[in-house]
This record gives sequence, C-alpha cells and structure tokens, in this order.
Amino acid sequence: MATLKLTINNQPHTLDVNPDMPLLWAIRDVVGLTGTKFGCGIAQCGACTVHLNGTPTRSCSVPVSAVAGQKITTIEGIAKNGDHPVQKAWVAHQVPQCGYCQSGQIMSAVALLKQNPKPTDEDIDAAMQGNICRCGTYTRIRAAIHTASADLSGAPKSLKSTPKLGKR
Ligand code: FES
Ligand code: FES
Repeated sequence: MATLKLTINNQPHTLDVNPDMPLLWAIRDVVGLTGTKFGCGIAQCGACTVHLNGTPTRSCSVPVSAVAGQKITTIEGIAKNGDHPVQKAWVAHQVPQCGYCQSGQIMSAVALLKQNPKPTDEDIDAAMQGNICRCGTYTRIRAAIHTASADLSGAPKSLKSTPKLGKR
C-alpha cells in the first residue's frame, strides 16, 4: 500500500491504495466518481477516458502511482451542472443510446475542441477513433461535435437534423 495525493476535478484527494491499482479503480471505487466507465480494461474501447493534464487518457491502463500530483479531470469535472456545450450538444442530438461509452466519448470530444475548435469530419474521426460505440452513435457524435464547436465559438445556433445511427 502507498499514500498518494491526487488532484481530481481540482479537488485534492489522499488515497491509501496499492500503487499498481489502475487509475480507473481509484476514481470509481476509492474516490466514488462513477461517471467514468469500465469497458475492456485493456486500453481498447475508450469508455474509461479521463483527461490527464488535459490529454485524453485511458484510465484503465495507467497505474494510480504514475499520476500522483498531476491534474486529472473526469466527466464530473467538465461542468458543474452537466451543461458543458459538448454535453448540451449531446442532449440536443440525442447521441446516447445505451449510454455506456458516452462519458468517454464526451471526454475525447471536449479535448478535441480545446485543441481544434473547428474540426472537420476527418479531424473528428481521427480524434475519436479510440472510442468505440456498440450502439453506432458515430454519426450523431460527429454532428454534436459540430454543434458544440459552433456554440463554443459564439456562432448563432443552428441545429442541423440529427442523423440516423450508423457506422463510422
Ligand atoms: S476500459 Fe479503458 S479503454 Fe476500455
Ligand atoms: S451508446 Fe451504447 S455503446 Fe455507445
């Protein structure tokens, strides 16, 4: 066991944990933030995506000891009331289906728009390729990212029709 200091969503936490514990376990089971999901456990699906110093990171595959002292942001930390422009666009386009992958999808989308405020479809596909959705929400994710991009840039709101579900 080790005593580790983590900063999650700008809040300090002191954890007594096995240093090899995956960050995802620490976030969910020790800190109690359950918005981040476990899917594959091997860095393949993206369900567990959080931001580590602003970069999307698969929390299932990072030992908690490797992130002590770094800035970790989970889905609970991107907006106080679930009203981040990306979250609002997700609701407007009815993106979530079963919902399981969606917190990871949103975390990747938020990071993309910070780095590239006006992404093309190709930019979106490249940035989101590590996030798998069994429900096939890819076309809606793309549309929602464009809507969030317009919202963040202050452009007048125009919600283009919500596409059908489909393959990438
Ligand atoms: S649970 Fe981490 S990538 Fe699938
Ligand atoms: S909404 Fe069901 S897996 Fe993505």
